[in-house]
Amino acid sequence: MSHTNTSVISPAVSISPTPLRSADLLHIADRAAAEVLDGSHDALLPAVWPTAERWSTRIHADDDVDVWLISWVPDRSTELHDHAGSLGALTVLSGSLSEFRWTGEELAHRVLGTGDQAAFPLGWVHDVTRAIDPPGEPRSGPTLSVHAYSPPLTAMSYYEVTDRGTLRRTRSELTDLPEGAPA
Ligand SMILES: [Fe+2]
Repeated sequence: MSHTNTSVISPAVSISPTPLRSADLLHIADRAAAEVLDGSHDALLPAVWPTAERWSTRIHADDDVDVWLISWVPDRSTELHDHAGSLGALTVLSGSLSEFRWTGEELAHRVLGTGDQAAFPLGWVHDVTRAIDPPGEPRSGPTLSVHAYSPPLTAMSYYEVTDRGTLRRTRSELTDLPEGAPA
């Protein structure tokens, strides 16, 4: 007589560092973008948009999420980075962003235009820049995006793609600033 040994396999338990989901962050970023567009945060905006360096200001912060408005300038890449233990999401308010994301095998490129949204789950490694203007059509006005991070950012790691086509972490930094913003 044989006994059947029944083992119970527990479903995978997802342990998230935040009660918010990517969908929540997309909604938060979208709502904050609408607030910027309707002038609710005008007091935080510069008199003149900086053109030499990326600029950012925090427009909301609580225990679970911080929300930033970022102005992007040409030729200032974030470098390849992650967001450590934070989920992220963005909404593009004006202009376009160029993103290279590590897929595990290569860098995949996409352009995020005005009104586009993107979510960044844990482990997302990307390099973001202001998209290049079409030839003969330089953009006037700032290129703006709103970013939401949950839990609020505490660190970022930076990466490079090796000659063997793998990803190598080059450094980690403690920071609460978004997208590798100049301190
Ligand atoms: Fe990022």
